[in-house]
Amino acid sequence: MSTIPVGVCSLADYEQHAKEVLPAPTWAYLSGTAMDGLTYQRNRQKLDEILLQQRVLCEDMAKGGCQQTLFGQHLAMPLLVAPLAYQKLAHPTGELGTIQAAAAQNVGFCLSTLASAPLEHVAQMSPDATRWFQLYCQPSRETTLQLVRRAEQAGYQAIVVTADAPINGVRNAEQRAGFSLPEGVRAVNLESLPSAAQGDSVFSCWMGQAADWQTLVWLREQTNLPLLLKGVMSVQDAQRAVALGVDGIIVSNHGGRVLDSQPATIEVLPAIRAAVGKETTVLFDSGIRRGSDIFKAIALGADAVLLGRSVFYALAVAGPLGVAHCLRILRDELEATMALCGCASVQDITSECLYQPNASTF
Ligand SMILES: Cc1cc2nc3c(=O)[nH]c(=O)nc-3n(C[C@H](O)[C@H](O)[C@H](O)COP(=O)(O)O)c2cc1C
Repeated sequence: MSTIPVGVCSLADYEQHAKEVLPAPTWAYLSGTAMDGLTYQRNRQKLDEILLQQRVLCEDMAKGGCQQTLFGQHLAMPLLVAPLAYQKLAHPTGELGTIQAAAAQNVGFCLSTLASAPLEHVAQMSPDATRWFQLYCQPSRETTLQLVRRAEQAGYQAIVVTADAPINGVRNAEQRAGFSLPEGVRAVNLESLPSAAQGDSVFSCWMGQAADWQTLVWLREQTNLPLLLKGVMSVQDAQRAVALGVDGIIVSNHGGRVLDSQPATIEVLPAIRAAVGKETTVLFDSGIRRGSDIFKAIALGADAVLLGRSVFYALAVAGPLGVAHCLRILRDELEATMALCGCASVQDITSECLYQPNASTF
């Protein structure tokens, strides 16, 4: 059984250990960024630049907590495990281990279309887990609908349509390391992967079969589950999605893995929240590494966040136990940040909790 290495107490520690234990090509795939990694770095840099406002001698804190409710589902903290393809790359338990860890910590779990375990097995592993299904629309609507129906039947409670990766990012580290999926790790929920065959350009190969707004309209008609759009970086796209009836927006740039030279997600979050209003659920990812990052995202308009690479790193280092530990670290860090900023609940976290040099109220 995997154990947690001595001294591991932050998500950065897991990252460092993962680099040591994973084969170099796998590391290149999991940690990889698009092109020069500018967006990847900016996601972190812009989160780091935000400063917090400490408050002292706060009253009525004893009953505080960081629970959050999303679409009627109660979570111990405002966090879900992001959809991550091929989790058996990190550990033999793959998605089956990760959902157990998420359930043990009572956070949400979102299963990727490109999961390396059958979506039904993952659901059966932790029947009480808050579980969502991430959908990559397939070239044929029939195949897409089959995935949605399987997810519904297996008790997934929301559908997350990822829209920001109609093509793979240009990821040089993977190319240099010669990464390919090892024997035994594949997208088992897809009977046949979309063929890359016809055409000699990105457009003729991929864009002809990519989802578009009509696909979203059609999907909305197919399911009564909450529908979320992941990978939204523009106010216009967010507003259009809400007008078409989606229940949630996930502000994400895929952790800087697809289009480089984009803004950080934290830079666009406030405008997207303002544009969609209070009624729409807004989630956030790309760059979360500390509980204080979760706090900052909520202060700027998110209802909850998703955690990506760090889950992979913890799974690689210490299996499901590592993932549970990593999630617990984040919760402890979030609670510490909330307590020191005078917030007894997630609802108390507002932009006023961030340091504003010119504000006269402090
Ligand atoms: C190795 C890897 C695989 C991913 N696979 C998927 C996927 O299958 N579907 C999806 O919507 N997003 C996928 N993502 C993106 C994550 O859901 C998430 O948006 C991103 O990792 C968040 O950034 P972070 O890694 O900085 O936390 C993947 C990310 C990584 C690192």
